[in-house]
Amino acid sequence: MVATRGLFFVSLFALALGKPMGRNMKVHESREGIPDGFSLRGAALPDQTLKLRLALVQSNFPELERKLMDVSTPSSANYGKHLSKAEVQQLVAPTQESVNIVNAWLKENDIDAKTISATGDWLSFEVPVSKANDLFDADFSVYTHDASGMEAVRTLSYSIPAELQGHLDLVHPTVTFPNPKSHLPVFSAPIKPEAQNLTSRAVPSSCKSTITPACLQAIYNIPTTKATESSNKLAVTGFIEQFANKADLKTFLTKYRTDISSSTTFTLQTLDGGSNSQTGSQAGVEANLDIQYTVGVATGVPTVFISVGEDFQDGDLEGFLDVVNFLLDEDTPPYVMTTSYGQNENTISRNLANNLCNAYAQLGARGVSILFASGDGGVSGSQSASCSKFVPTFPSGCPFMTSVGATQGVSPETAASFSSGGFSNYFGIPDYQADAVAGYLSALGSTNSGKYNASGRGFPDIATQGVNFEVVVDGQLGGVEGTSCSSPTLASIISLLNDRLIAAGKSPLGFLNPFIYSTGASALNDITSGSNPGCNTNGFPAKAGWDPVTGLGTPDFNKLLTAVGL
Ligand SMILES: *[C@@H]1O[C@H](CO)[C@@H](O)[C@H](O)[C@H]1NC(C)=O
Ligand SMILES: *[C@@H]1O[C@H](CO)[C@@H](O)[C@H](O)[C@H]1NC(C)=O
Repeated sequence: MVATRGLFFVSLFALALGKPMGRNMKVHESREGIPDGFSLRGAALPDQTLKLRLALVQSNFPELERKLMDVSTPSSANYGKHLSKAEVQQLVAPTQESVNIVNAWLKENDIDAKTISATGDWLSFEVPVSKANDLFDADFSVYTHDASGMEAVRTLSYSIPAELQGHLDLVHPTVTFPNPKSHLPVFSAPIKPEAQNLTSRAVPSSCKSTITPACLQAIYNIPTTKATESSNKLAVTGFIEQFANKADLKTFLTKYRTDISSSTTFTLQTLDGGSNSQTGSQAGVEANLDIQYTVGVATGVPTVFISVGEDFQDGDLEGFLDVVNFLLDEDTPPYVMTTSYGQNENTISRNLANNLCNAYAQLGARGVSILFASGDGGVSGSQSASCSKFVPTFPSGCPFMTSVGATQGVSPETAASFSSGGFSNYFGIPDYQADAVAGYLSALGSTNSGKYNASGRGFPDIATQGVNFEVVVDGQLGGVEGTSCSSPTLASIISLLNDRLIAAGKSPLGFLNPFIYSTGASALNDITSGSNPGCNTNGFPAKAGWDPVTGLGTPDFNKLLTAVGL
C-alpha cells in the first residue's frame, strides 16, 4: 500500500508540473537569437494548436552517401547503376530500436502521431502550445516577419529527453524560421521584343537584350528536335500558390516555338492540398517562367508541374520536405527536378538542413538530378540585404544537389550580378569539388577574407542565362530575371541529354556534380568576368575554372553529348 501511495503522490506531483518526473532533458537545438528580419511579438496562446513533426535518426546514411557517390562518379564501375526504392529505404529507415523508443515516449505523453514518410523516418502530430512547451522545455512565441507581416510560432531552443538522443533527429517547426516569398523572380514591365529568326542557329542579335527559347537553343546548342523517350520525366515544383497557367503557355509556345504544337503542355501532381488554378489573374510569374522554359525548351520531354499546397506549412520548408518524400515514395520518380525557391541557410537549423540534404542524396541515388536556383542576392543571400558577413543560401550549400547560378549577355557571357554564390557554414567541401574550390581560393587570395567560410561547400555548381527572359503572364508579355530563370533552363538541357542517354540504352545522369566536376567540366563554357556584389563588397569575382558566382560555367549541349559518351 505504501508503494501505491507513493505512486499516487508521484503522479500528482507530475501533474502539477505538467511533465513526468525525473526526466533528464538535453538541449537539442537552439539559435543564438531572433533571425534578422523577425521581431518577437509575444508569448503564443497556450491553447493554440501546433502541428509538429519529428524526424527519427536514419539508420545508415554513411552507406547511402557512399553508394550515391559510387553510382554518380563517371570513373566508377558502378556509374549509372542507380538504387531501387527498396534499396534506398533499407539504408535510411530508422532502426527498430529508434522506432520503439520514440513510440514509447509518444505513448507515455498521450500523443497520437501519424507516419508521413515511406520509411517511417518522419512523424507528425498536433499539440497545444502549453503541452509543446512542457514536452520540449521550449518557449513557443509569436514572431513577426517585419517585411511581410507574416506571423510564425517558434522557439529559440528546445530540449529532448536524454533517452531520445541518437534516436530523435529533430522537431520541426521549432528553431527554423520561415522565409516568406523567398527569392521569387522580378517581373519587369511588359516589353516588346523584336521579331526573331527562329530558323537561324546563329545567336539572334535580340538575345543581347531579351532571352527566348530560340536564344537559349542558339547560345547552348540545345536541339530543337523532339525528345523521344516517354519514361524521361522532368518535374517542376511549385509552392506558395504560384500557379502554372496553360493558356499562357499556349500563347508563349505560339509566339516562341512556332516549330512545335502550341498545344504542347504539362501534367499536374498535387500534394498538401495543392492545386493549379487556371484563372488568368492567379497565374504566377515564377510558375509560368518555370513551365514556359521547361515545356518550351525541353522539346518533347514529358513535364510535370508538382503543386505543393499549404495544408501544413507556414514557410517553404515543410513543402520542401513533403515534395521530396512524395517523390521518394514513387516507384519511378522524374529524372530531373527543378526548384526556384530557397532561403538563407542561417534561417534553418543545422539538423533540418542536414535532413533535407540527406533526402536529396536519396533521390540522387535513385537517379534523379536535383536542381535549385542559387538565389538572387549575390553574396548577401537569397535576396539582397544588408549584412556584414556573406550569407550562403539553402539548399545550395547541400553537397547532394546541383546549385544553378545566373549569367547574362552573349560574347562574352558574364556573371549576373545578383547570382548568389559562396560557401556553406553547415556543409564541408565535398571531395568532388575540393580541387576546384582550392584553385579558386588560391587565385582569390585575401579578397573577402573573414567574410566567408573557406572550409564550406562552395556553390553554385553551374550557371545559365538568367536576365531578361521573356515570359507570358495573364496574357501579358514581360521580362523576368533571376536564378529562377537558370534552374529550369538547365533542367531542360539535362532532360534532353537524358532523352539521348535513355534512347541509347544508358542510364539517366542522376546526381550531376561528380560528373560536372570531372569529365563534364570541359563541356562547359567557363565564365571569367563579372561578380556578385553584396554586404558592401564587390562580392566574388568570376575567374577561370570554378567560381562562387557561375560555378564551372554554362552548358554546351553538343560538348555534353560527347562528355557523356554519345
Ligand atoms: C532566317 O535565317 C535563315 C538562315 O540564316 C535565312 O536563310 C533566312 O532568310 C532568314 N529569314 C528571315 C525572315 O530573316
Ligand atoms: C565553417 O564550415 C565548416 C564546415 O561545414 C563548419 O564546420 C563550421 O562550423 C563553419 N564555421 C562557421 C563559423 O559557421
